[in-house]
Amino acid sequence: KRPPASIVFIFGGSGDLNYRKLTPALYNLSLDGYLPEQFAVVGIGRSKYSDSSYRDRLLEGIKAFSRQKDDLDTNWDVFSKSVAYLNMDGEDADAYKKIADWVNDKEKEWKTQANVIFYLAVAPQLVPDIATNLGKLPLCGDTSRVRIVVEKPFGHDLESARSLNNLLGGLFAEKQIYRIDHYLGKETVQNILALRFANALFEPLWNRNYIDHIQITAAETVGLEGRGGYYETSGALRDMVQNHLLQILCLIAMEAPVSFDADEIRNKKVDVLSAIRHFTHEAVRDNAVRGQYDAGVVKGKKVVAYRDEEGVKHESATETFAAVKFFVDNWRWSGVPFYVRTGKFLQQKKTQITIEFKSAPHFAFPQESADTWRPNRLIISIQPDMDIRLRFQAKRPGQSMMLNPVEMVFNYMDAFDGQQPEAYETLLLDVMQGDATLFMRADQVDQAWQVVTPILDVWQKRQPVDFPNYQPGSWGPEDAEALIAQDGHHWVNVK
Ligand code: BG6
Repeated sequence: KRPPASIVFIFGGSGDLNYRKLTPALYNLSLDGYLPEQFAVVGIGRSKYSDSSYRDRLLEGIKAFSRQKDDLDTNWDVFSKSVAYLNMDGEDADAYKKIADWVNDKEKEWKTQANVIFYLAVAPQLVPDIATNLGKLPLCGDTSRVRIVVEKPFGHDLESARSLNNLLGGLFAEKQIYRIDHYLGKETVQNILALRFANALFEPLWNRNYIDHIQITAAETVGLEGRGGYYETSGALRDMVQNHLLQILCLIAMEAPVSFDADEIRNKKVDVLSAIRHFTHEAVRDNAVRGQYDAGVVKGKKVVAYRDEEGVKHESATETFAAVKFFVDNWRWSGVPFYVRTGKFLQQKKTQITIEFKSAPHFAFPQESADTWRPNRLIISIQPDMDIRLRFQAKRPGQSMMLNPVEMVFNYMDAFDGQQPEAYETLLLDVMQGDATLFMRADQVDQAWQVVTPILDVWQKRQPVDFPNYQPGSWGPEDAEALIAQDGHHWVNVK
């Protein structure tokens, strides 16, 4: 179903996120017939563009980043009629009248009221001023049709996240606030709920009685991609774990929802976050590992050490790799470790979840076959491969009872025709529809910050003595292997 008439204002209209992700997402939604007939997207920024030079600029982005590229010029001609540019400074309170006027004029032209969406694709320090100025527009009091979308990072720590939540909460109703975590829009991430709760097969086993441990890996082969200034103040724990990876952990660990109501799903997720053990400062040392990459070579290309990147301090203590062993202290998961790791310039681009089951309780086979006997394992590949693999034992053909692990594989590309929508397409459509299921509620953000705060505190207090401590193109620092090896496991890296 198409959403009602909508106007999307993008603060940061001349910025990178809009260029690479947002406009391509809207363009693809329009090609797939998901946009309302009465639709407009207005870039807001300080750069001086006319409507037409702005459209030309965005067209370059479409050519480079759109998922669909057929008949591009013709299709862009049609779509770009909905694109406009408003030259204004988000910090200039007087300029906001332009927005109200723009909405009024459009609604007159369309002869209908529209959903109005303010997307803040700007640096985090600009968010409070823009939100405050928007909050003064009488229009924003209309909680049923006006929404604000806030990009990550949502705060820098618990305190700043709380003050941002308080500020937004004073200006808008919670149901108007859409805190984006783009991982939640990925098809393979959404599929976790389908896998777990649309099948009767997995859920009875999905607990401490049958699961030995869980691994969540988000390995990247890229580095800072020109974002040294931001990354230096963030680090891997804030950039990936606090948001994306804890959200994935929630989807794996949550209880069954009663319905797909936005608050029902988010209640179940926040229950997981509030059950994650908060480490004491002593426990941080045993359960969290940090790393920073050295100079080296990745895929034949030279990489400079993190400390020599632009925007990074020479003695920087910022981590470009983090591995943490979390515990979810509740009835279902008591004692089951959740190993989570992420890093820049690792050996392979791979986001995957590994569920490792306990071994069969009794081994009745000839002793010779014990060498190849392996526990069952379910691997959910989020990206770039999109598949789910179940490993189990089979009898190796021949005259003796020898065992061999084999795999059953579900692959998205084989099973379903056509392309998958990108995360931002799904999420933008959800905002227009008013569906907040895949967005972060204030309490989720707060709980997730509480989980990482002790680690951040210890890391800040105790300067790393061994940085840089991993080679680009490796799987991270040796301590990360030790973190999991001390429990008798190893990280699963599927080729
Ligand atoms: C962003 C992080 O949120 O996610 C980046 O800021 C990271 O550092 C990116 O590279 C990864 O997203 P994806 O969709 O490419 O896995």
